[in-house]
Amino acid sequence: MNPKKFETNAVRTQAARSQHDEHSVPLYLTSSFVFDDAEEMRASFAEEKQRNIYSRFTNPNTNEFVEKICQMEGAADGCAFATGMAAVFGTFAALLNSGDHILSARAVFGSTHGLFTKIFPKWNIETTYFDIADLDNFEAFITPKTKMIYAESPTNPGLQILDLERLGALAKKHNLILVIDNCFATPYLQLPIAFGADLVIHSATKLIDGQGRVLGGVTVGRTDLIQEINAFARTTGPAMSPFNAWTLSKSLETLAVRVDRHCDNAEKIVTSLLEHEAIEAVRYPFHKDHPQYAIAKKQMKRGGNIITIQVKGGIDGGKKLMDGVKMCSRSSNLGDSRTIVTQPAISTHSKLTVEDRLAVGITDGLVRISVGLEHPDDIIQDLTQALDNLK
Ligand SMILES: Cc1ncc(COP(=O)(O)O)c(C=O)c1O
Repeated sequence: MNPKKFETNAVRTQAARSQHDEHSVPLYLTSSFVFDDAEEMRASFAEEKQRNIYSRFTNPNTNEFVEKICQMEGAADGCAFATGMAAVFGTFAALLNSGDHILSARAVFGSTHGLFTKIFPKWNIETTYFDIADLDNFEAFITPKTKMIYAESPTNPGLQILDLERLGALAKKHNLILVIDNCFATPYLQLPIAFGADLVIHSATKLIDGQGRVLGGVTVGRTDLIQEINAFARTTGPAMSPFNAWTLSKSLETLAVRVDRHCDNAEKIVTSLLEHEAIEAVRYPFHKDHPQYAIAKKQMKRGGNIITIQVKGGIDGGKKLMDGVKMCSRSSNLGDSRTIVTQPAISTHSKLTVEDRLAVGITDGLVRISVGLEHPDDIIQDLTQALDNLK
C-alpha cells in the first residue's frame, strides 16, 4: 500500500473513538483516570500495562497531539510540554548531567540563550556557540565533554539557514545528540530527522496553533532519548494541558493549507518591499539574495512566513515603522493568522548585549514580519504606507 501523503495523515491520524462513535476527537478534561481493581492499578503504576493514569503523565488529547507530530516529523516517539521553552528546557535537563558541554548555534531564541548563559552554568553545564554559516570550523569546538548540538533553522529572527545534512553527518561522526528547533519551518516545510537530527523541538504556540490562542511545546525523535525526556517530564510536571492538546491537534489538520497560504503571502510581500526606499535590506529564505539560498532550497519545501526588513534610521526608524502600521499587530508572537511586526532589538532580544545581538544579525533597525493570512494586498498596503512615512 502506498504511504499516505502529509495532508491526509494530518486529518486522518486520530485517537480511537469512544463508545459514542464521535467523528471529531472529544476533549478529555480530566486530571486522572480510574481503575477496575487494585491489580490493574498496580500493573499500570509498575508500567506493566500501558494506559492513562494521570494527566501529568499522559492524556488521550496529548497522546493524539504527540502521535500526529511524530507522524509528520517521521519520529519514533514524543513528549508534549506546556510551552516551547518547557520543551527546550525539559530536553536539555533530562539528557544532560553536571559537567556536560553543549555546542549551540550562536543564533538562538532569546530565552534559549538565557538558559545557556544564566541557568545551566548553575549546574556546571557549559555552552559554546558556533556560527551556522561556518561549519568548516565546527569540529574545533568539540571537547571530550560535548554531548549535544543544538540549533534552529531558520533562526529567530535572523533567518540564517543551517546545512542540516552537513551538521547531521558531523553529529553522527562524533556520536553527539543533534537537537533541532524546527519551529520556523514546521514539519510541512522541513524534516530535520531525515537529515540526521536525533530530536526535533517545536514551540507549538507558533504556526502549529497558527491562530494565536494557546501555548504548547513538543519534543519528538529517538525512542531511547524520548523515554528519558518523558521520565523527566512526568516527575517535574511541565505537562501540556488537555485543552491545549485538543486545540493543537485540530490545528494540525489545517497546517499544510495554512502554511502554503502564509508562504504565498510572504513571497508577494517580499517582492513588493524589495524596492522601497526606506528599506536597507530584505531577508527571506527563498529569495535568491539570501546568503544560504541554495541550502534553504535543498532542505525546505518553501520559504516560510517570516520576513525581516532592515529599515533606515536604526532604533528610531524601526520604532517609526512599528508605530506606523494601522492593521498589522505590534506583538512578540509569530505564526499567527494575523500579520505581526516585532522589533527584536527593543523587545524579544533586548536582554542580549549589543555585541551578541549584532553577532547574529539583529541590527537596531531590524523588523521581523510574521506574515499572516489576511489578503496580501491589504498587508502590502499597510506596510507600504507605514514605510512611506519613514522617508
Ligand atoms: C524558535 C523558538 N523556539 C522556542 C520558542 C519558545 O516557545 P514558547 O514561547 O512556546 O515557550 C520560541 C518563541 O518565540 C521560538 O521562536
